[in-house]
Amino acid sequence: GAANGAADSQLSFTPVRPNTDDKLTIPEGYKSSVVVRWGDPVLPGAPKFDFDHQTAAAQAKQFGYNCDYVTMLPMGKDRALLWVNHEYTDETLMFRGYTGGAKATVEQIKIALAAHGGSVVEVERVRGTGQWKLVTSGRRRYNRRITAQTKMRFSGPAAGSDLLKTAADPKGLAPVGMLNNCSGGMTPWGTVLTAEENIDQYFVNGDKVPAAQRPYITRYTITEGVPEESRRFDRVEERFDLAKHPHEANRFGWIVEIDPFDPDSTPIKRTALGRFKHEAANTTLAKDGRLVVYMGDDARFEYIYKFVSKERYIRGNERHNRELLDEGTLYVAKFTGDSPKGDIDGSGTPPKDGEFDGSGHWIPLVSGMKSYVKGMTAEEVLVYTRVAADKVGATKMDRPEDMERNPVTGGVYVALTNNTDRTAAQADEANPRAANKHGHVLEIVEKRNDAGERSFSWSLPLICGDPEDPATYFAGYDKDQVSPISCPDNVAFDRDGNLWIATDGNQLGTHDGLFVMPVRGRERGYLRQFLTVPIGAETCGPMVTEDQRSVFVAVQHPGEIDGASPDKPASRWPDGDQPRPAVAVVWHGEGQKIGS
Ligand code: FEO
Ligand code: CA
Ligand code: CA
Ligand code: CA
Repeated sequence: GAANGAADSQLSFTPVRPNTDDKLTIPEGYKSSVVVRWGDPVLPGAPKFDFDHQTAAAQAKQFGYNCDYVTMLPMGKDRALLWVNHEYTDETLMFRGYTGGAKATVEQIKIALAAHGGSVVEVERVRGTGQWKLVTSGRRRYNRRITAQTKMRFSGPAAGSDLLKTAADPKGLAPVGMLNNCSGGMTPWGTVLTAEENIDQYFVNGDKVPAAQRPYITRYTITEGVPEESRRFDRVEERFDLAKHPHEANRFGWIVEIDPFDPDSTPIKRTALGRFKHEAANTTLAKDGRLVVYMGDDARFEYIYKFVSKERYIRGNERHNRELLDEGTLYVAKFTGDSPKGDIDGSGTPPKDGEFDGSGHWIPLVSGMKSYVKGMTAEEVLVYTRVAADKVGATKMDRPEDMERNPVTGGVYVALTNNTDRTAAQADEANPRAANKHGHVLEIVEKRNDAGERSFSWSLPLICGDPEDPATYFAGYDKDQVSPISCPDNVAFDRDGNLWIATDGNQLGTHDGLFVMPVRGRERGYLRQFLTVPIGAETCGPMVTEDQRSVFVAVQHPGEIDGASPDKPASRWPDGDQPRPAVAVVWHGEGQKIGS
């Protein structure tokens, strides 16, 4: 069927050239605008943003810093809610003269706490176009800020575990705040799953915890001592000092479920999904209706996970569905290549059978209160998931980031950003390049194309870099026609099943951007660049709307260049003033489908 069709992709735009311009560059015929930027009003009564007189009280009502995951929840054709993650703060760009947390004012530290988390904002379409604007007046009853100080709760098998108890929460049920929420996903019942990623940087004195906890602090690379560059959240809230509250670190690093349509709801940290540097969490349904969640742990030599619920999803049965994420099995992936070891030399040159590919399976770690890992209880597996995955011999990957199932083909795609630490001896068929600075994309096809299965086949359709570099691969497509790409991070699909890829950390000397690549038919591997972002920024989001008339991107950390500061900004995007992280929307000027 579709696999043989010509131009399945329906993509015909002229690719954007790699560049170093301080702007959002989009294809000819397209338009763009900023939807919402750091400091814009979220809650009614939010003060107007004032860079030089920012306060924590203002920030708590305004759009946070460093927007990352973006998703849309429609409220009719021309109204919607946007959910946006605020991953982290960059104090050296936010405050003049900032020299680290030790000397920061208490107000600056409180601003940073309030600039983390996420936002729910109402947006409206400019009638008849793909442009969307922030609603800035009226009741905006769903608008909400979640911060590092919002009350949350734990659910699932590790809720109430001794490992999660602290002096402030002796029952281990009520964590406060979420941190470093990178990417995320949606549930079939319309809630958001937001992923706590690099939580290791928010604590001090990781070396002063009880001896039994020390190895886990190390395995999660949690800060030891009190480094100069630390944000020093502990100066405002003692819980961030692990010498005093050693378990506080265990209360971060989870997938958090948030219901944007219930502004009074308590965000839920879902312990059944494990604890690691969660990049994202994307859901699908198994053939029998069980809920499946795909997740990457974004660090060098970390793992790929999936969760499969015990019960089935029942359309319309809210109460039942909302417990699916609390009971199920957490698996970690093992990849086996089909080429002889001698063919994989770390150069990235394809093996003799022409492809980096093979088979694999999902190794169970824990199911409810049953642990499959020798020497670890179920609670330990969930709180110290990395250690559990080490013990079962899972495959160490090149920074597994976003992972998402193609709604058209059923293939599962994983962005592997890079791993410059991998040696030639450590190269394997799924991570075939030593000193992998450009990254690659992995495609998994589960048995019978069923997300509930335990085994799969896999291949690498994209090995990133300059197409002129022989150690790159674009699914066999003519490399003269493709765009250069480096450091894939977030992935998304449009309704035609095309793979959209956002990059973070381009190592080719040009800016990060957004790309699109068909994964089936004659154009499989025909990768084209759709946009580039300003100086110092990475490209997050991305999201192509259901009607395919708009694509949203989060332009994260514009101007984040070594040595840049408010007195010496590296970028002036988006307003010609201090750089401000912002969500932008791109649409076709004549209302055509995105990619036309
Ligand atoms: Fe926050 Fe792995 O990107
Ligand atoms: Ca092979
Ligand atoms: Ca990311
Ligand atoms: Ca995604």
